[in-house]
Formats: sequence, structure tokens, C-alpha cells
Amino acid sequence: MNNETGAAPSVPVITIAEAARHAGETVRLNGWLYNLRKSGKIVFPIIRDGSGLMQCVAVKSNLPEDVFEALKGLTQESSFTVTGKIRAEQRAIGGYELDVESAAIFQRVPEDRPYPITPKEHGVDFLMDHRHLWLRSRRQHAAIRVRHEVIKAIRDYFDSHGFTLVDTPIFTPAACEGTTTLFEVDYFEDEKVYLTQSGQLYNEANAMAFGNVYCFGPTFRAEKSKTRRHLTEFWMVEPEMAYADLEDVKRVAEELIVYIVGRVLENRREELKTLERDISKLESVKAPFPRISYDEAVKNLQGKGSEIQWGGDFGNTDETLLTEDWDRPVIIDRYPTEIKGFYFQPDAVRPELALGVDIIAPEGYGEIVGGGQRIHDLQLLEKRLEEHHLPREAFEWYLDLRRFGSVPHAGFGMGVERFVAWMCGLEHVRETIAYPRMLYRTRP
Ligand code: 4AD
Ligand code: MG
Repeated sequence: MNNETGAAPSVPVITIAEAARHAGETVRLNGWLYNLRKSGKIVFPIIRDGSGLMQCVAVKSNLPEDVFEALKGLTQESSFTVTGKIRAEQRAIGGYELDVESAAIFQRVPEDRPYPITPKEHGVDFLMDHRHLWLRSRRQHAAIRVRHEVIKAIRDYFDSHGFTLVDTPIFTPAACEGTTTLFEVDYFEDEKVYLTQSGQLYNEANAMAFGNVYCFGPTFRAEKSKTRRHLTEFWMVEPEMAYADLEDVKRVAEELIVYIVGRVLENRREELKTLERDISKLESVKAPFPRISYDEAVKNLQGKGSEIQWGGDFGNTDETLLTEDWDRPVIIDRYPTEIKGFYFQPDAVRPELALGVDIIAPEGYGEIVGGGQRIHDLQLLEKRLEEHHLPREAFEWYLDLRRFGSVPHAGFGMGVERFVAWMCGLEHVRETIAYPRMLYRTRP
């Protein structure tokens, strides 16, 4: 931006996060009004710039009359810029203050239409309707910054462990995760096309080309369930490994989770504090995670009074009950084939079990990872497609992977929003993504 504050052109524009490096220097900050306190001939605007908060000290006798009056009349979320000297001040938010030498207002929010989000309690629907503004609030801002760290940690993990990023398409002709949650796209002329539920099928092809791969992007589920864990559009990271089995999935997923939690603890302490997260709950997330079979999980649940029968899927309450004995995520494997996707390799000894694995986060955050070993045998896969009434033509290319150098392979998917909700200790996944999409929420 050009210099509109009357300050010398050499004044560096910095962000509040960089303040420590500029103590004693005159700098310029660009931001929005977070709060304003007045005390006689001094006003204290707290400026918010997206990287932090800083209290400015504007003394009437040091400033031109109009500048002082403009600062004094600032309303919440008005945009302005200030120039002044940074000074360490232990008692101030963030540990620094800025002594104002000049300032300019870009847009003053008028009194007759004030910023709609005030410190008073608002209902969640109101806040969600104002999500485009709500993101400026401290807790929302903190959650999104935790999300950024989670995503960066995921990418760093795979990038430094020999995985090649190969992103998969969003428009797909075939269902990966069952036909009940498919979004149909009415546009393409010759065939039915859906929004992807998972990049897995393409990942399998990519693994045969590159060895270890991952894809990372938005995925879609026409979820009729209106729960605190479900979005219709969510982000999923999916690694896939050639010459790998169920045990490899457990090992990599566990290592990945421990790594991400470590990174969040290392780089997002402030945000976790803002969110009032009990950090001890995250500090206990260390390897090894408990590993139990579906059989054991069912027995465990029945012992706790759950209605679950062998063959049934775990509900939200079951998942919460399952993790309460441990302080870290629980790895559950070998589910009944009946309740799993068409692509799972059966257990060699008990073919009624699928070599699938779920990882359940503690504290009621539910399933964060789902994956397993894929069928590598052509005939068996053909049979499964039929049993699941999946259109053979759409899967011909997928069958090719079993015709041309088929190998045991395995992978998993991890949902970003559930992971972030767990890190932040948030009640609902809707606050972990900037613009959540749910059954009853497609705006803003
Ligand atoms: O268990 P899911 O359905 O597994 C798959 O899609 C596999 N094809 C992945 C693979 O093996 N490559 O989904 C994986 C994860 C879940 O554990 C959960 O974290 C998240 O994706 N997830 C959702 N997150 C938010 N809202 C929803 N509706 C979700 N559905 C799944
Ligand atoms: Mg699952």
C-alpha cells in the first residue's frame, strides 16, 4: 500500500506478530478496530490485523486535532492504519504497545449500521449467518489457525516420508463409499457424474504408478445425518501404499497423528489457550495407541451396557464409550465385511471379516481415520462389484489395476475437520472450516 499516514516513506509496514523484532522502532500497522478505551486526553485503540492484537496509545497533545478525534471516534471493525513506535509493555495484550505518531482511517463503520457481532452472546445460527464476519472473532480465528497448522503438518509428514502428491478428480463417474451419500451432478451429457466421496480409487491407480502417494482435497457426502461430526463438504487426506497391508496402515496413521498433535502443540499454543483447550489431553497422545479388534470392541461395549450386536456398526455413543478407557486414540480393526465398503480385502483366516481399520479419537470426537487393505484379486473384486450392485463399466479401469501387476496395497483417509475439532476441543465440526456446508447450511 502507498503511504497515506503522513509518515516517512521509509517506515516499515509490519504485522503485529512481528512486533517483537521491531521493539523501539517506528513502524506502521494496518488493521481493524478491535476495541477502544478512552481516558480523558488519551485513547487506547486496540488494533487487530489478522496476526494478533496490539494496544495503541494515542495522546491528544502529540497528534493533530483531526487525527486524535478520528481515532477517538472509531467504531468496532473500522479499518485504519497507525504509525508509531513499538514499546515492550508486559501488561498489554501481546506484550507490546504502539505510541501513535500518525493515523489514517480507511472506512469508519457508521453508528446507524454497527458491526453486527458484539461481545454479547449470539445464537449459533446468527453467528453462522454472519460467518464471513464471525471469522474475525478470536476463537474462530484461533480454530482456523489450528486448522492451517494441521494441514501443513499433514503435508510435511507425507512430503518427508517419500509420498508423492497426486491429487484426484472431484467429478467422478463411480461411487467409492456407497451410493446412499452420492451427490449427483446434472451437467455432463453422456454419463452420470458425482462429486467425489473419496479419492481412494484413483489413489490406488496412482500407487501402482508412484509407490506411495497421497491426495488431499475436498470430498462430498450427501449426509442426511445432522450430527456434530458430519459435513456435506469436508477435506480429507488420503495416503495409499503399494506392497502394503493393514499393519502398514495402522503404523503410518498412528505416526501421522502423533506428528500432527506434536506440531499443533509446538506452533499453536496461543490459539489453544484462546480456545481454552485442556492441553494435557493432547500431550498424552503418544504411540503406541491401543489396538483392539472389532470383536473385542463389541464385547467391551456390551460390558458397558451398549445395545450393539456383533455385525452392527458403532454409533456415536459407542465410539465415545470405546475410547473412555484410554487417554489416546484407539485403533479398531477387522470389521464384518457386511458393513464395510466393496473394496476391502477379506481376512485370510476369517473371510467374514474385512481388513479394515478405524481410528477413534478420544473425548467423543469419533472416527478420525478410516482405511484398510484393498482387494488385489481380480475375480473377488468382480464378485464384490456385483454384490454391491455397482455399475461394472464405471469400474473397468479400476479392475485393470488387478489385471496389470496387481499387488497387495492399502491406505486410509483422515478427515481434517474432525481432527481439528478434536485439537481445538470444539463441540461441532462447523467451526473448523471457514465456510461449513451442511444439510441446512450453504450460506454464506
Ligand atoms: O471412513 P471413510 O468414509 O473412508 C473413506 O472414504 C476411504 N475411502 C478413505 C481411504 O481409505 N482412502 O472416511 C474417512 C474419514 C473419516 O474417518 C472421517 O474422519 C472423515 O473422513 N469423514 C467425514 N468428516 C466430516 N464429515 C463427514 N460427513 C465425513 N465422512 C467421513
Ligand atoms: Mg469410516
